[in-house]
Amino acid sequence: MPASPPHASNRPRPARWLSSGNSITQQFLSLGGRPDIVSLAGGLPAAELYPVAEIAAASTRALARWGAVALEYGPVEGLPALRAAIAGRVSAAAGRPFGSENVLLTTGAMQGLDLLGKALIDEGDLIVAQFPTYLGALDAWRPRQPRYARLDWTFAEPTFEATLRQAKFAYAVPNYSNPTGVLVPQGQREALLDTVLAAGTWLVEDDPYLPLQLDGPAPPSILASHAARHPDGPYDGPVIYLGTLSKSLVPGLRVGWVVAEAGMIATLALAKQSTDLSSSMLTQAIALDLIESGFEARHVPPMLAAYRERRDALCAAMSSHLSDWFTWEVPPGGMFVWATARDPGFDTNALYAHALAEQVAFVPSSVFDPDGVLTNAIRLNFTRSSPERLVEGVRRLERAVRRYLAARPGRAA
Ligand SMILES: Cc1ncc(COP(=O)(O)O)c(C=O)c1O
Repeated sequence: MPASPPHASNRPRPARWLSSGNSITQQFLSLGGRPDIVSLAGGLPAAELYPVAEIAAASTRALARWGAVALEYGPVEGLPALRAAIAGRVSAAAGRPFGSENVLLTTGAMQGLDLLGKALIDEGDLIVAQFPTYLGALDAWRPRQPRYARLDWTFAEPTFEATLRQAKFAYAVPNYSNPTGVLVPQGQREALLDTVLAAGTWLVEDDPYLPLQLDGPAPPSILASHAARHPDGPYDGPVIYLGTLSKSLVPGLRVGWVVAEAGMIATLALAKQSTDLSSSMLTQAIALDLIESGFEARHVPPMLAAYRERRDALCAAMSSHLSDWFTWEVPPGGMFVWATARDPGFDTNALYAHALAEQVAFVPSSVFDPDGVLTNAIRLNFTRSSPERLVEGVRRLERAVRRYLAARPGRAA
């Protein structure tokens, strides 16, 4: 008689890194699907503004133009015509030529982050990351088990350059950062570039929020700053720039790109080959159509008007309901307001349970800290919900704060 099979619970367990909080992103995204909860947690655009009919028409045109090519595996570096279009866009913004050899098309900017982890990070390597740090980057790099140091935009720490010299790369989101919404001024961008150059390391500039400029233009990218110093010849700078169509069009296309010197692009392409062979040629062909037809450029301004209204509604409601306990800056772009508790002992992890009881969700600051110890701030998204829902969400949040304070031992509200 065959031995009875071992119980399913005795089967080998997933790799160790998976046990450390990686479901957090999914958990926050899934809250968005619950109508009873006002979710200010996810980092999602306004779905009702997605240009469904225009994307249907672009799909038809793309299939007519590319036929079977759009349905094949493609070159690992991406659809050549779209690579060239992105190279053209970056060249125009940077004021110097970039060629297709400087562009790798990726399955969203998220894949660019993942490939950087795969291609560059060995266990224990140091990353100097803007703090607080985009959760998706921490997630992408967690399997590689890096160490983190903080990117100090004040450059007050005299050992910062020495720290950078030890690092595999610096990681920055200078435009309307996720999670803080901060726009880094040009002087600090230049200072970071100088320090990276002096330290001889790489600088990953993650720029998904570039199109979401709500209060006027952003300063030039760090890539453009470097390009201005070296206007001729093949690009050989330290900047590895990540872009995406997720914010200017829709995240569902999953079209992003990495721009870097050609050797780095070849390294990342090698890493990409064993990940997915190629990104979807169909969505790249659709993206090319939406760019070449000028639709992307036409789509952004009305979307920004809607986002501005939402940001202002959220901030006005916060002023009425949360200012006794939190402070914040109105973000000049992007998707998020970052609010810091006046009381440094305020624990937003504990607030979260009360918020869910009041049917509102936010992202607590601890998930944006590699060490998980930043617990006195919250990230609120303003792009996904209508102004009315945002106001209702903030009302619920006020009730959650009162519950939290009442439940806190030994503290008065
Ligand atoms: C800082 C940052 N980088 C990268 C991404 C990933 O973007 P994509 O949708 O292109 O994968 C996001 C998404 O919100 C982000 O906030």
